[in-house]
Amino acid sequence: MEKVLVTGGAGFIGSHLVDELVKKRHYKVTVFDNLEQQVHPDGLPEYYNIRAKFIRGDVRNKRQLKEVVIDSDIVVHLAAAVGVGQSQYQIAKYVDSNIQGTANLLDILANEKHNVKKLVIASSMSIYGEGLYECKKCGKVKPPLRNFKDRNILNWETLCPDCKDVLKPVPTPEDTPLMSNSIYAITKKEQEEMSLLIGRTYGIPVVALRFFNVYGPRQSLSNPYTGVAAIFLSRIKNNKPPVIYEDGLQTRDFIWVGDIVNACLLSIEKEEANHQVFNVGTGNPVSILKVAETLIELLGKKGKVHPDVTYKFRKGDVRHCYADITRIKKILGFKPEISFEEGMKKLINWAKRAKAVDKFEKASQELKKKKLV
Ligand SMILES: NC(=O)c1ccc[n+]([C@@H]2O[C@H](COP(=O)([O-])OP(=O)(O)OC[C@H]3O[C@@H](n4cnc5c(N)ncnc54)[C@H](O)[C@@H]3O)[C@@H](O)[C@H]2O)c1
Ligand SMILES: [Zn+2]
Repeated sequence: MEKVLVTGGAGFIGSHLVDELVKKRHYKVTVFDNLEQQVHPDGLPEYYNIRAKFIRGDVRNKRQLKEVVIDSDIVVHLAAAVGVGQSQYQIAKYVDSNIQGTANLLDILANEKHNVKKLVIASSMSIYGEGLYECKKCGKVKPPLRNFKDRNILNWETLCPDCKDVLKPVPTPEDTPLMSNSIYAITKKEQEEMSLLIGRTYGIPVVALRFFNVYGPRQSLSNPYTGVAAIFLSRIKNNKPPVIYEDGLQTRDFIWVGDIVNACLLSIEKEEANHQVFNVGTGNPVSILKVAETLIELLGKKGKVHPDVTYKFRKGDVRHCYADITRIKKILGFKPEISFEEGMKKLINWAKRAKAVDKFEKASQELKKKKLV
């Protein structure tokens, strides 16, 4: 039996991964998670798989972390503070949890006696900033973030920095220059680079997975700081309009949590994954307005709840970013299995039973107070 440690394994993505690992029967699974209050207001979640050993601990505490890491063959490092907006005013906390936490893990791998032969880490699409675009005249362009001080917001689209033409979004591959636009993104970028570097230095296979926008059951419906699908869902369930920034036509790449789990399993199992970075998305852009409309329709609230399109710009937001998944398809044989429509249906079926406390107003007020909206 191989021993797998999943840090953050009580969370949304981690708990689904744990379920699959346990099912395989040839892994002995341990979860290390501090049960962060914002994510787990009621402690250990009811969905927690009791066939995985649970250890409550914090990645910021090297002593606690060392005990579990030196006893593992495989480590999947998912523990992190995950709110993009919140990271802009809880800077030290995000840096501590995500950069220092990973540094602790790497220090253990570099200095202690251990058997770890694979480390999979969760990176994020947020490290790209704007996605890749094409200009009719200038070819492929990686534009800077939009700056609306210079122009009238009649057109939300990204413009070519050279000829000022409107750009067309194209899939973003892994070698696109990175341009983090939040503290959260910076921490994910640092985490990825530090892990790959130490992996190469000590010959420990590291795989960095850049997850795009993950959705599915168990994403906290009460944590207003993460996951647009979950935030909208909890608003609509409570008969309140989902609040949309800009005109709603900005796009993201929404990927079903089960597909993310498959990418993690392939990374654990395939040697070809070693020392590589992979995008994990679907390759299909979906607009934020479409997410809101789909959820309203599926929840049977059409005509009762309408999206609130605010035409407001949230500082640091990107217009379009969706994955080029050529690399993960080719090297790991990965294929996303659940379409957006199917996934949204599955999400709704789960949400009918789940508790959703709408804390959106509180989160939105905080962003306003810090002048981030
Ligand atoms: N959900 C997404 O769309 C998405 C996209 C890109 C990347 N990611 C990454 O995937 C990973 C998992 O995210 P998620 O969506 O499941 O979030 P989540 O908040 O549901 O899970 C994170 C888990 O980590 C735990 N945790 C937080 N800080 C910790 C600490 N200091 N020590 C120990 N445990 C701690 C939390 O209690 C929680 O159970 C994160 O690294 C995140 O950055 C997620
Ligand atoms: Zn141009």
